[in-house]
This record gives sequence, structure tokens and C-alpha cells, in this order.
Amino acid sequence: MRNSVRKNLFLGFCTLIAVIFCTSCGGRKVPEIGEILISTEEKEIPVAQDKVVGVFMPNKTEERWENDANNIVKNLENLGYETKTEFAVNNSYTQERQIRNMLEKGIDCMVICPVNSQILLDVLKEAKEKQVPVIAYDRMLMDTDAVSYYASFDNESIGVSIGTYIKEKAELDQVRQNHESKTIEFFMGSPDDNNAIRVYDGIMSVLKPYLEDETLVVKSGRVEFEDTCIMRWSGYLAEKDVTYTLRSKYKGSDIDILCCANDSIAGGVIEALDKEGYEQENWPIITGQDAQISTMKEVIKGRQAMTVFKDTRILADKCAGMVQAVLEQTEPEINNRDSYHNGVVTVPSYLCTTMTVDVENYKEILIDSGYYKESQLSSGTGTVNSNSQ
Ligand code: BGC
Repeated sequence: MRNSVRKNLFLGFCTLIAVIFCTSCGGRKVPEIGEILISTEEKEIPVAQDKVVGVFMPNKTEERWENDANNIVKNLENLGYETKTEFAVNNSYTQERQIRNMLEKGIDCMVICPVNSQILLDVLKEAKEKQVPVIAYDRMLMDTDAVSYYASFDNESIGVSIGTYIKEKAELDQVRQNHESKTIEFFMGSPDDNNAIRVYDGIMSVLKPYLEDETLVVKSGRVEFEDTCIMRWSGYLAEKDVTYTLRSKYKGSDIDILCCANDSIAGGVIEALDKEGYEQENWPIITGQDAQISTMKEVIKGRQAMTVFKDTRILADKCAGMVQAVLEQTEPEINNRDSYHNGVVTVPSYLCTTMTVDVENYKEILIDSGYYKESQLSSGTGTVNSNSQ
């Protein structure tokens, strides 16, 4: 028997007891049909008619996805839903299999953060045929009409935050005025992740003018997204990539800026810099996104200049609201109806805002808000290259 069935029977029993008690003592209100009294606390919780929600995350190797899954599950369970979670070891075929298995066993709604949404096209079609609604989580499900809503962050604005930080920290206007230049290399996200392209566009919206007039110089010549993207946002590949670039293009000179699209990539880049003998005096500006715990240790030590904090508690809350909306035919909170066309349909979205974090403001943003405890950020070593596939 499914847990929620048991839970409902138990709640039904409690209701009956409550009705008898209230009726016999006369002084208390008898519940209406559908009104539920829970045990002696009289707490009202929704009973979500035995609905099961599948939650599909891309991997457990990066810090964020396990946290995201935990937050979503907590929110969905608070709404009275049962949940089943799968992680896909960053393999799109594993994820496809996980989704198909769950569809076959029976599921009422699916929250999917795709590894590669192109591989999911057929299984999403099956979901639509079975009338199982799908919410795209963080990453868009491209080229399908089998997606009801999209909950994410404003990825372009994440890119703008990274670009703006570089512009200010490297004092690019001053550099330009002095007719000088700074060197930069780009390490962007996965080519099969729509977020990566949006982040890149945001970065370029700020830095392009400085690249055009050669205030910023890219010695590798790699500026386009296609030339700078890193499969699966892999720190391991980033480490290899930057090592090759430093050895082949920066012999005898130091690089000034390493523009990394996320913290996993930045982690790999930091490992390479250590191995190549970079030290505090010639350490470049390094960027990222996610504000992972291991990354924050590097930010505090001054080795990663900045990251972008994405409050996944808020994202999970908005996502759970979307699940509730598709299951109970209500309207979810939407703040963007135009920006996310996935190639087939424009998907109504909620895009959460983000914050730039560095050593100056991390306490206020991450600790005072209760996202991390100070002790989590103060112990142990810094960035480990966790995304090694
Ligand atoms: C997410 C980032 C994450 C990256 C790698 C992107 O889709 O938006 O937060 O760092 O995937 O997992």
C-alpha cells in the first residue's frame, strides 16, 4: 500500500474520531465535509488525493542538485504529495530510462531537470499521451510541447552579473582609457544546456565592447560559445582545457581573467592554476555561479573572486506551486510569459532573481539569510573538482 494511501486512511480515522468527539461534547464546531481535523493539534493540512510526483535531477556529483531535490521534496510533501526522486549520473540515457520506468509504474506529475533534453523527446511524448504533466526545472526542456511550466533563474542576468563583476573588478574602463589591455579566457557551460547559452549571452552583453576594441585580449582566440563551451559543465575538462591554454598561449606571461560559467568549472580551473604554479601575487580573477560550499571556501580565501547565489529554496517553492497547479487545475505564480520559447512552444515561467556574492558580502547574503551556517564555510579545504565526468 502506498504511503499516502496509508496516510489518508489514518487521517480519515482521525477525522472520524474528531467528528464523534466534537459532536458528543457539543461545545466545538463539527467539521464540514472535506474539512479535516488532524489528531489533537487540529492542524489543517491538504490531502493531495494520493498524488505521486517524480523528481528527476541530472547528477549527485555537483553540490547543488541534491540540495535542489531535497528542497523540492520538502515543499511537495508539505503540500501532501508523495514523491519519488531519481538522479541520472549525468547520463541522458540513464535519465530517459528513469523517466520511462516511472511512467510505466504510474506517476501523476514529473519535475525534470534534463541532462540533455534532446534525448528525452520520445519519453516526453509518451508522458503527454498518458496525460502526465511535466514541469521543467532549472533547465528548459527544448523542442517539445510536453512541458507545462518552467521554474528557473534568470540565466541571462546571471551572465550579466558575471560580466559586470569582471568589468568592475578589472577596471576595464580605466584600462581602456589608459590604452592598456587585460587578458581573458572563457570557459562556458554545456552545449546541450539552454542555460549555458543564456549565461554566455549575458556575459557577452557586458564584455563584447571591450573585446571589440581589444581592451580585453583572448590569446587562444576562443570567444564564440561553440569554441568555449564545456560538455556537462565538467571541472575535469575545464582543468585540462585551461592547462593546455596556459601552456600553449601564456608561456612567460600571466593571465588576468578566467571567466568561468559556474563553480564546477571554476574548481577545475583553480586546480590547474595550482599545478601551473600560480600564486597569490599573480592569481587571476575567477568567476562562477551556484555559491557551492566548496566554492565559498575559495571565495573566502580570495582564490575565486565571485560567484552567483541562486536561492534554491525559492526555486523549489515556485516549482511546487506549479506542480500543485497542474494537479489541481489552478493558476501557478508566473512572472515571465514571453522569454522562454523552447523551439515548439513558449513556456510560462517563473524566473527567480540571483545575487552576486564575493568576500565582502557573503556573510550577509549566505549566512544571515540562513542558507549556510558559518561553520559549513569555515572548515576544511576549498574547491574540489567534484564534477569529474
Ligand atoms: C545550472 C547551474 C549548474 C549547471 C551545472 C546549469 O543548468 O543552471 O546552476 O551549475 O547547470 O550543473
